[in-house]
Amino acid sequence: MKRVDDFRLKLGKDELVPIMIGGMGVDISTAELALVAARLGGIGHISDAMVHDVTDRRFDTSYIKEKTKYYKYNINNSDKTDIKFNLEHLADATRMHVSKTMEAKQGTGMIFVNCMEKLTMNGPRETLKVRLEAALDGGIDGITLSAGLHLSSFSLMADHPRFREAKLGIIVSSLRALQLFLRKNAKLNRFPDYVIVEGPLAGGHLGFGDDWAVYDLQTIITEIAAYLKAENLDIPLIAAGGIFTGSDAVSFLENGASGVQVATRFTVTNECGLPTDVKQEYFKASEADIEVNHISPTGYPMRMLKNTPAIGDGIRPGCESYGYLLDGNGNCAYITSYNREVAAHPDAKKVVVMDKTCLCTHMRNFNCWTCGQTTYRLKDTTRKLADGSYQLLTAEHVFRDYQFSTDNRITLPE
Ligand SMILES: Cc1cc2nc3c(=O)[nH]c(=O)nc-3n(C[C@H](O)[C@H](O)[C@H](O)COP(=O)(O)O)c2cc1C
Repeated sequence: MKRVDDFRLKLGKDELVPIMIGGMGVDISTAELALVAARLGGIGHISDAMVHDVTDRRFDTSYIKEKTKYYKYNINNSDKTDIKFNLEHLADATRMHVSKTMEAKQGTGMIFVNCMEKLTMNGPRETLKVRLEAALDGGIDGITLSAGLHLSSFSLMADHPRFREAKLGIIVSSLRALQLFLRKNAKLNRFPDYVIVEGPLAGGHLGFGDDWAVYDLQTIITEIAAYLKAENLDIPLIAAGGIFTGSDAVSFLENGASGVQVATRFTVTNECGLPTDVKQEYFKASEADIEVNHISPTGYPMRMLKNTPAIGDGIRPGCESYGYLLDGNGNCAYITSYNREVAAHPDAKKVVVMDKTCLCTHMRNFNCWTCGQTTYRLKDTTRKLADGSYQLLTAEHVFRDYQFSTDNRITLPE
């Protein structure tokens, strides 16, 4: 009977344990979590989502405070088009987040950064270019392009000296998305080093519509693998979404995938950035407590716990401090919804906004409890303590459980 450890993920000349811990913004997949994966010979992700806030918390910078002060005059204005990102600050914060993580890296594994295109930051092209190039400057081993088609991302960093050396990959949920990406980048003569195929059971934003349940990860992988073979392209595929045990992983490794990307099981580890009480909510969840909804202003469906505090919360848009989801014209779907409710209830102290959420503020405060579909099984991965709470796990324990377990077994902690 095979174990994940019987396989290796080959990225160029490098051979890795074929386990990636997926990027989880905002600072849910912390540097500490990513560092464990690298130490154990796999791949960990940090995320560059809301990077100024991450460096403020971790390294005592004051980017958010300064930005809030700068745009204070606009706080009561429903028009947010004025709010722009200082590109120098963005580059500095990204370089700091990346380089400090890389300095701490030990072991033979790698650390990648998850870079979401949907963080359009009221200047999609220029901010994305800065984020990508600053991550390469900071010495990141690789960049995973996510939450978008990323048709221009390779060309945005093509002049960087590390463009052909760093590992570059993309997350897709369909063959069509991958074909678009490959076609668009054909002239650069630079293929992705890996492709993460994310199925409908993943956490965070989904690359599917409301009919997500009719899709199946293995079917999509088989289709993409056949296409790559027909095109004579040797690009490793990484399966993601709903892989809960080592045996689940082995099944994908035997059927077209060269690695797996996993996240949900690491949300209840000590190293995960979620607050301890939120980790307990993840443990407690039953299947009926999980939903896919449309409150994310990105336009993508998002999976989360139904008792997520962000749902219905009519907080004032926090763009003067954050503004990461402002599109190229300074709009965000939450602002439209919020303004509509304020106009409908002019005397209300606080409005209720059901259809969208202020994702920046709520992700920043860990009040948007996005999760994978298998979250309801987390309680089976640990022990219940005398006080009724669940024992948190170490990331090393979960990583090794994926790496060595057989027969769909899950090793409980000591
Ligand atoms: C709490 C949470 C937050 C996530 N945030 C992101 C994110 O910011 N960007 C991204 O590309 N994927 C995100 N994901 C998706 C994961 O990186 C990963 O691909 C997926 O969840 C793997 O499936 P699993 O959770 O069933 O193991 C997130 C997943 C979770 C559980």
